[in-house]
Amino acid sequence: MSKELLDLVTETKKQLEHLRVLGVEGIQASTAVAPAPPPALAPVEKISPEPVTSLFGDLTPAPVKLERSTETFEQIHAEIGDCTRCPLHQERTHVVHTEGNRKARLMFVGEAPGADEDAQARPFVGRAGQLLTKIIEAIGLKREEVLIGNVNRCRPPLNRAPTTEEAATCKPYLLREIAVVQPEVIVVLGNTAMKNLLDTREGITRLRGTFQDYKGIKVMPTFHPAYLLRDPSKKRETWEDLKKVRDYLDSHR
Ligand code: URA
Ligand code: URA
Repeated sequence: MSKELLDLVTETKKQLEHLRVLGVEGIQASTAVAPAPPPALAPVEKISPEPVTSLFGDLTPAPVKLERSTETFEQIHAEIGDCTRCPLHQERTHVVHTEGNRKARLMFVGEAPGADEDAQARPFVGRAGQLLTKIIEAIGLKREEVLIGNVNRCRPPLNRAPTTEEAATCKPYLLREIAVVQPEVIVVLGNTAMKNLLDTREGITRLRGTFQDYKGIKVMPTFHPAYLLRDPSKKRETWEDLKKVRDYLDSHR
C-alpha cells in the first residue's frame, strides 16, 4: 500500500470512529483505532448513516427513482402518431396503445400485439388477453381498474418476438406512460417484456415470483398468458406470483 493510501485509511478510520462515538450506526472499521473518550455531551442526537458512505465517495450508484411526469397519455399517443420509426409499422393495421386506469396501482406489460389486438387496436383482447383478464379478476380486481400495455405497439409479422432494436425504439413511450401513472407494481408478462423493463440477463423461469425493481417500482415477472395457454400446468406458479402482488397491494394501502 502506498503511503498516501495508508494515510487515507488511517484518516478514514479516525473519522469513522468519530461518527461512531456520535452515535452513528452501521459502521464497522475493521481495526480498532485509539480508544475514543466517552462523548462529553450526552445524549447526542443520531445522525443518519448517509454521510458515512460519502466519506468514500459514492460506492454504490444511488438508486434511481422515477420522477413523476406531468405529460398526458394523449400527448404521448399524439407524438407516436402514425408511427414509422421501426419496421413493424409495415404490416400493422393499428398502433395498440396502453389502456386502462391512468391512476392504476397495478400495471401489466406484455410483449407486442397479436392479430386480435392489431385488428381491434386494444392490448390483450385475444385468447391470451382473455386469460389475462381472468388472472386480474382472480386477484380481486377488474380489468378496467388496472393498466395494460406492451413494450411494442405494432404487431410483429407471424407474431415473432420484436427485435432488440424494435423494442428499443418503442419502449420509451411505455416508460413515459409509466412515469405518468407511477403504478406501485408492474407485472411483466414473459421473457421479452421482463428483459425490456429490467436490466437482467436472467430468464423468466429464474426470476418469476420474486419482486424486482424498476426505479423504485416493484416489478413482478411471471409467465406470459400465451405460454400458459400452451402449458396450463404453469398456471399454478403464475397464481402464486399474482398472490404476492395482491398481498403487496393489500398491505400498502
Ligand atoms: N400478447 C402480448 O404480449 N400482448 C398483447 O397485447 C397480446 C398478446
Ligand atoms: N388464478 C389461477 O388459478 N391461475 C392463474 O394463472 C391465475 C390466477
